[in-house]
Amino acid sequence: MTDSEQYRVRQEPFYRQQGNEVALYAAAYAARLPVMVKGPTGCGKSRFIEYMAWKLDRPLITVACNEDMTASDLVGRYLLEAGGTRWLDGPLTTAARIGAICYLDEIVEARQDTTVVIHPLTDHRRTLPLDKKGELLRAHVDFQLVISYNPGYQSLMKDLKQSTKQRFTAFDFDYPEAELEATILASESGIDRALAAQLVAVGTAARRLKGHGLDEGVSTRLLVYAATLVRHGVAAGDACRMALVRPITDDRDIRETLEHAIDAIFA
Ligand SMILES: Nc1ncnc2c1ncn2[C@@H]1O[C@H](COP(=O)(O)OP(=O)(O)O)[C@@H](O)[C@H]1O
Ligand SMILES: [Mg+2]
Repeated sequence: MTDSEQYRVRQEPFYRQQGNEVALYAAAYAARLPVMVKGPTGCGKSRFIEYMAWKLDRPLITVACNEDMTASDLVGRYLLEAGGTRWLDGPLTTAARIGAICYLDEIVEARQDTTVVIHPLTDHRRTLPLDKKGELLRAHVDFQLVISYNPGYQSLMKDLKQSTKQRFTAFDFDYPEAELEATILASESGIDRALAAQLVAVGTAARRLKGHGLDEGVSTRLLVYAATLVRHGVAAGDACRMALVRPITDDRDIRETLEHAIDAIFA
C-alpha cells in the first residue's frame, strides 16, 4: 500500500453540518489556505475534518499534539540501524510529500518551538526545511494544514502566538443546536429521536452550569456515549450518570443538580 492510500478516508463519515462550513472549507481547500477549527472538546471538529478529507478525496494525517512533542516528532529524524542511519519522515513531512491534509489536533498543547516549524508551510513558501537532513521540502500542491484548538483551555501560558494564529482562516465550532444534536445522537447510536431529545435536554441542563462550577459543558461525544449505553440496554438514568455526570465533575453540589435534571427529564 502506498503512503497515500493508507491515509485515505475510505467510507463516508457521518457528518451533519451546523451551518455552511462544508462549502466554506471546500473554498479554503481550493485556495489551499490553512484552516483552524476552534471549539470545545467533543463538538465535532475532528469529525468535520474527516468528512472533508473524504469529500475532497484527500488522504488525512492526524497528529494528536502534546507538550512532550518535539519538532522532530513532526518533521522526522534519523534512526540508528545495524547498517548505519536511516531518515524517517515525521507525519507533517509525509503529509507535505504526498499531498495530504495534515490535521494537528490540539495544537496549543505543543511547545512553541515545535509550533514554529509549521510557519513556512502556511505562507506562500509552502516549504518545510528538514534541517537535520539538509533538505528543503516543497509541499505537494494538494497539501493543506489544519489545526484545532479549544479556546476554553486558553491561558496566558498556553495560547497560540499571534504570529501563528494569523496564518490561518478559522471556524468557530460549538455543540450543535438541540434538534440537530438529537438527530446526531439517534443516527450515531440507533436510539429513537424522542429518547435522543431527552438526552440532549440533560446535556443542555449541564451546559447551563458552565461557568457556575463546570469548566466546560457536556460534549456531544459524551451524549453519544450515553445514547450508545441506552442502546445496549442500560437504563437512561444510569447511562446519564455514567456518561454525562461522573466524567465531568466530582463536585457534590453539581452532581446533585445534574441528578435533579435527570430525574425531571426522565420522570
Ligand atoms: N456535526 C456532527 N455530525 C455528526 N456527528 C457529530 C457531529 N458533531 C459531533 N458529532 C459526534 O460527536 C463525536 C465527537 O466529535 P469529535 O469530532 O470527535 O469532537 P472534537 O471536537 O473533540 O474533535 C463524534 O464522534 C460524533 O459522534
Ligand atoms: Mg478531536
